[in-house]
Amino acid sequence: MPVEVTDTDVTLTRADDAGTSVKILLHGANILSWSVGGAEKLWLSSGAILDGSKAVRGGVPLVFPVFGKATSGPTSTLPQHGFARLSTWELLGQVAAEPLTVQFGLGPENIPEALRKEWPFDFTLLYTVALGVDTLETKLTVQNSGSVAWDFQTLLHTYFKIPDVDAVVVTGLTSVQVKDKVSKSEYAETNTLVTISSEVDRVYENVASEVTIESSGKPIYAISRTNLDDVVVWNPWVNASKNMGDFKPEDGYKTMLCVEAGSVSKWTTMAPGESWEATETIKALL
Ligand code: BG6
Repeated sequence: MPVEVTDTDVTLTRADDAGTSVKILLHGANILSWSVGGAEKLWLSSGAILDGSKAVRGGVPLVFPVFGKATSGPTSTLPQHGFARLSTWELLGQVAAEPLTVQFGLGPENIPEALRKEWPFDFTLLYTVALGVDTLETKLTVQNSGSVAWDFQTLLHTYFKIPDVDAVVVTGLTSVQVKDKVSKSEYAETNTLVTISSEVDRVYENVASEVTIESSGKPIYAISRTNLDDVVVWNPWVNASKNMGDFKPEDGYKTMLCVEAGSVSKWTTMAPGESWEATETIKALL
């Protein structure tokens, strides 16, 4: 079966390669696993909580309508990274056979009541996940279905599985302006190859080019984006991973790297009736 549905998740498997599949949890529409030719490409914590009581630690959590914690405005009372990853999405069904594509939807009726009170706007989110031979394409459509304008930020918080953080670099970020949350400073990236050797939590703003992750000098993932101008690079390293109860194993930071495509350095304003769309395509290169 190309599309298998249970009460809690959906799995797509390609007809041409049973080792190429993607599994999506309805809670958060969180992608849990993406395998290409039998090789897992996403990092999922062995301590991840999948019962809907918490956001999932790993895979691809979807951040909406706020990135991090806002200090003012209508999203400031929402939890970190908003409610989309804390809500159970509806499976709308398969929408294409090639690439194998399914769509999920989220509206005000799907949000936990306490969070709905904090952000009382009318909206529809459509999340479309397409599994190609060696690609995973995700498209987010945001619609204002109400009669007042509202603002949002969004991010695809992708946890890539990597062989060894010491051997990995990120390319495509040279000269890009960075907001560095660890050093609490702002600067332009000077490195052509961005290495990870301590805690990294940076927002690269308005990244023009494709971003790649290389391992031992070879590109392993290429990330292309439309309408997702910013790229967040995050690795919690030793101490910050110890502070997350659901980050397991404790040395898991050595085999994961978050490179997150988003629209987070500005707010996007949605007028009533307006629709906005963004896509990310990840290609597995090895
Ligand atoms: C990243 C942020 O996107 O997500 C980090 O830049 C944050 O600051 C990380 O720590 C994980 O967030 P959370 O809420 O899933 O623990």
